[in-house]
Amino acid sequence: MIDFSLRADHPSNTKTDVVAVAVHEGQKLSWAAQDIDKASKGALAAAVKAASFAGRAGAVLPLFNLTGVSAARVVVYGAGSGNALSAKDARATGRALASCAVELEQAELTVFPLAEGAVDAMQQMVLGVSDATYRFDETKGTSTKPKPALKRVRFGMPEAAAKAAPAALKNAVAMTHGIEFTKYLGNLPANHCTPTRLGDEAKKLAKSHGLKVTVMDRKAIEKLGMGSFLSVTNGSEEPPRFIVFEYSGGKKGDAPTVFVGKGVTFDTGGISLKPAGDMDHMKWDMSGAGTVFGVMKAVAELKPKQNIVGLVVACENMPSGRATKPGDVFKSMSGQTIEVLNTDAEGRLILCDALTYAERFKPKAVIDIATLTGACVVALGSHNAGLFASNDKLADDILAAGKKMNDRFWRMPLEEDYQEALNSNFADMANVAGREGGAITAACFLWRFTKKYDWAHLDIAGVAYKGSGKEKGATGRPVAALVDYVMASEK
Ligand code: BES
Ligand code: MN
Ligand code: ZN
Repeated sequence: MIDFSLRADHPSNTKTDVVAVAVHEGQKLSWAAQDIDKASKGALAAAVKAASFAGRAGAVLPLFNLTGVSAARVVVYGAGSGNALSAKDARATGRALASCAVELEQAELTVFPLAEGAVDAMQQMVLGVSDATYRFDETKGTSTKPKPALKRVRFGMPEAAAKAAPAALKNAVAMTHGIEFTKYLGNLPANHCTPTRLGDEAKKLAKSHGLKVTVMDRKAIEKLGMGSFLSVTNGSEEPPRFIVFEYSGGKKGDAPTVFVGKGVTFDTGGISLKPAGDMDHMKWDMSGAGTVFGVMKAVAELKPKQNIVGLVVACENMPSGRATKPGDVFKSMSGQTIEVLNTDAEGRLILCDALTYAERFKPKAVIDIATLTGACVVALGSHNAGLFASNDKLADDILAAGKKMNDRFWRMPLEEDYQEALNSNFADMANVAGREGGAITAACFLWRFTKKYDWAHLDIAGVAYKGSGKEKGATGRPVAALVDYVMASEK
C-alpha cells in the first residue's frame, strides 16, 4: 500500500526521487514548473521545447539531472489548455506519473498540482496512483512479478489549497484502501471467494477496523423468513451468508444510511443456465457486496459522525436436482410472494429480502449496489452506472458525488407504468418482465420492497469490472463515489 502525505517545500529544493510539475499546452509553465525552471536557469523550458512537449493531459516527460534542482529526476506532466485539470485528466495524470516512477524504479514521487482545483486534482491523482500500482497476485503461482518500487507519494500544495488539503487527502487515501479491498474480493475466483469466505472476510475487517459485524448462516436466514433469498441458494453446495456491518459514529438513535450489496459469488444462471461464453465474468457478480466491504473499510478509517449499516447477501446461483425451477413460487420476508420465471434474475430475489431487513434500522436512506442486469450494460455501457431513486434529493446527492469523483451515474426512470409487466397469475409478482427496459423492470421489482424509506438502487453491471484485455479485473467502482457521498454530509 502506497504511503501518501503532504509536504511544504518548494519544487526546486524538494529532496525526493522524482518531482512532478505541470506544463500547459503552448508550453506554458505552471507555478511549480516555473520554480524549477528558474532554479535550473531555464533548463526545464529548454527541454520542454526540445522535446516539442505538447502539454496534453496524461502525457509525461522525464528529465534528469537539472542543475540547481534537488531531485535528480523531474517529470513534466501535461496540464492541457484549461486552468484546472478535470477529474478524468487528473486521474490519468496520477496513473501516468505513478507508472513513470515505477518504470524508473523509484521509491518516492512528489507531485505539485496546478494552483487551481488543486485539492480535487490531488484526490484524483491519489486514485490514479492506486490504479497504476494495484496488483492482484493472490492466485498467481510461479509467475508473480516484483512489487512496484514506488512506496511514497507526496503532494506539494499551492498556498491557497493548504487548508483543505489534509482532509481531502485523508478521504482519497481511505477511498483507495476501500477500492483496493473491493478489487481484491472481486478478483478472487469463485472457488476462493465463496459466501463463507465473504463471511470470514467480514469478521476479519470488523476486527481490524473496529466495526460491529453479525454473520448469519442458513439457519439464521431461515429464521428471518428470507424465502426469496433462500430460493436462490437451493441448487448450491456452498452455504449462504447474510452479513450485517454496523458502524456507529453518530449518536445512538441517529437514523443510519444503509448500504446493501448483491453478493452472488458465482452466477451460472441456475436452471435458466447462462451460455458458456464469458461465464467467468460471473465471479464478479458479488461486486455490489465488494463495494459494501470497500465502503465500510473506508468509513471505518474516516470515522464520520454518522451511523452506517452495511448489508451483504451472499450465495451462489447454481443448477442442480434441488435447484429452483422456472415457475416455482416463494414467499419473501415481506410476505409478498414471487413467481420465479427465470432463475437467472436472482439478484433481485436475494436483494429484496435484505431490503426488507433494512426496515428495522429506520434508515435515513437505503442504497443498494448490484451487478443486476445485462440490460443496464446495453443501455449505459461501461462509463456510467444506472441510478434509480425514489427520492430526488438522494438521487442528486449521489449524482453529485459521482460527478466529483468521476465515478459516474446516470439517472434512470422509476415509474409505476413499468410495474405492470411484473404481474403474475400465480403470485404477487413475477421476477422478470419482458426484454424491454430490463434494467428498469428490475429496479421496479426492488421498489416494491422499499416503500418504508428513501431508496436508491445502483446497477453497476457495466462498471464494476473490465471483462477483457490487459486490464481485465475489478474496478472498485463505485466505492469512491459512495465514500464521497458519505463524507459530503459531514460538512
Ligand atoms: N448477474 C447478472 C447481470 C449481469 C449481466 C451482470 C452481465 C454483469 C454482466 C444477473 O443476475 C442476470 O443474469 N440478469 C439477467 C436478468 C434477466 C434474466 C431478466 C440478465 O441481465 O440477462
Ligand atoms: Mn443472473
Ligand atoms: Zn447475477
